[in-house]
Amino acid sequence: MADQGLFITVEGGEGVGKSTNLAYIRNHLLKQGREVLMTREPGGTPISEEIRALLLDTSHDEMHADTELLLMFAARAQHLQQLILPALAAGQWVVCDRFTDATYAYQGSGRGIDNDRIAALEHWVQRQLRPDLTLLLDAPVDVGMARAAQRGQTTDRFESEQRAFFDNVRNGYLARAKQYPEQFRIIDAARPLAEVESQLVQVLDEFLSPH
Ligand code: TMP
Repeated sequence: MADQGLFITVEGGEGVGKSTNLAYIRNHLLKQGREVLMTREPGGTPISEEIRALLLDTSHDEMHADTELLLMFAARAQHLQQLILPALAAGQWVVCDRFTDATYAYQGSGRGIDNDRIAALEHWVQRQLRPDLTLLLDAPVDVGMARAAQRGQTTDRFESEQRAFFDNVRNGYLARAKQYPEQFRIIDAARPLAEVESQLVQVLDEFLSPH
């Protein structure tokens, strides 16, 4: 039987350069002969992508925070069972654009849902599964919001939130990183791209050298 694959997640607030950096991470691992499965949350399977569309739809401004939380975990359950767990069991490495730390940051710190309720769902849906490594792309909220505005795409239901929500999300992520230093590596995403890339290489190479 193949060894269990590594599960790497990438997190951060809006406008921290997740897409660009995910492509860089994939290429860096490919150069080392590591082909990884790239996926995202909410999403990653047809059912989970449909749930994502519901979650991001700006016309659903009546969505209750509990509904939002449960839909995140419904999408996650399908994603885990259909894609992530079989890949890891086959020894494949998986890089996921956001995972449950986003739920603690957005639904927990952002929406104000108790961590205990999130933890109950985390255990129910994931059992023992936790990321082996989480790269947190961190930047001051002003920097992220300015970059997101520059992109000029239409905003989704989360991006339409107020400044205070994003401050809470950032603080939530930083608190998670402090609580789980073994899992998290913080990348200073406010630096110029080349510097962000060299931080990523350093963290990845250091983490991956024993694997
Ligand atoms: P993004 O993948 O384009 O960043 O959009 C996904 C949005 O969903 C983003 O605003 C963060 C939000 N989200 C949560 O609120 N909770 C979660 O658990 C996840 C995975 C994402």
